[in-house]
Amino acid sequence: MAVHEAERHAMTRALELAARGPRGANPQVGAVILSPEGEILAEGWHHGAGTPHAEVDALSKLHGDAAGGATAVVTLEPCNHTGRTGPCAVALIDAGISRVIYALDDPGAASGGGAERLRGAGVEVEAGEQADDARSLISDWLTAQRLGRPHVTVKWAQSLDGRAAAADGSSQWITGPDARADVHRRRAGADAIIVGTGTVLADDPALTARDGDALYEHQPIPVVIGARETPADAALRRHPNESVFYATRDLHSVIADLHDRGIQTAFVEGGPTLASAFIAAGLADRVLAYVAPVLLGGDRLALTDIGVPSIDAARRLTVEQWVPLGADMLAIARFQEDNEQEDNEQEDNEQEDNEGVR
Ligand SMILES: NC(=O)c1ccc[n+]([C@@H]2O[C@H](COP(=O)([O-])OP(=O)(O)OC[C@H]3O[C@@H](n4cnc5c(N)ncnc54)[C@H](OP(=O)(O)O)[C@@H]3O)[C@@H](O)[C@H]2O)c1
Repeated sequence: MAVHEAERHAMTRALELAARGPRGANPQVGAVILSPEGEILAEGWHHGAGTPHAEVDALSKLHGDAAGGATAVVTLEPCNHTGRTGPCAVALIDAGISRVIYALDDPGAASGGGAERLRGAGVEVEAGEQADDARSLISDWLTAQRLGRPHVTVKWAQSLDGRAAAADGSSQWITGPDARADVHRRRAGADAIIVGTGTVLADDPALTARDGDALYEHQPIPVVIGARETPADAALRRHPNESVFYATRDLHSVIADLHDRGIQTAFVEGGPTLASAFIAAGLADRVLAYVAPVLLGGDRLALTDIGVPSIDAARRLTVEQWVPLGADMLAIARFQEDNEQEDNEQEDNEQEDNEGVR
């Protein structure tokens, strides 16, 4: 059975409603209840962890048997599990909903299966309406679900000769204004911004996302990792969001805790010790390397030990984009999966049987 015009409009509306919800441990979801004639009876969205899901929020606005024979249009498959709230599939069945249109399948092992449950109860179910829009709305949440942790981007600025600071430790500024503006724009898209105590003590960074002198509306939560104390008058203490401090070097436990706090995307901004530790721990998904046409020499390398003892163990990346930024260049690269790395090595060896070429 096809999706009707009114249902299509309702899905567009449900996506708008979904976007009103907060980003966090739960996905942003919207729902619209339509009468059999296609009129909107109620709207709802998910207001955050521990609150009713979008379908239940919408149903709560209807009285008596007003939902009897109605259609529910939802941006994510109604869930089938009891968490802090009951299964939405059951709430829809109990309310007498006879048809459900949803955009995306629920990827959760425990929460999925709602469509099957609805069909089992005789409810008509259509999946996939405006799935691409729904996917892009919650793409960070979907990635965090797949990884079981936040998506981690490691960013650094380096000289052409691979240094992250001059011999005395000063590193502001290696890159030019275009590159720095790009960093701020990308920071504004992240949930958390992570630095080591070394960077806090050396640079006293504000860790805000700024557009010129103004703050971007969305500010990432500052996170500091390491045992040393952050001074009471540190600039990040004036950040609009309260900082989170982890007096540990156990990055897996930090990332697990950030995941529990609903962080979906984290931006690691150094310094070299922490960036290297994230890569060595296998906790980096993407690299942003800003390369400036300047030479610094010395031993303050952009990365230190990342657990690569020989060229065979080199961490190969796939560059998704080279972005010119004024005189600088940004490489946006992701880590290759193990099988991808093996395929490439084989191809390279076949093409390049040329001893001495690096
Ligand atoms: N070019 C750039 O993009 C850039 C960016 C940031 C900083 N910098 C420069 O980098 C320099 C600071 O470098 P840095 O390497 O000292 O800074 P860092 O990486 O920010 O801090 C290092 C500290 O992180 C803590 N840490 C937390 N988890 C760790 C782990 N798993 N392994 C090891 N250490 C861990 C340790 O602190 P505790 O000892 O307190 O436990 C360690 O001493 C400064 O010169 C700064 O200007 C450059």
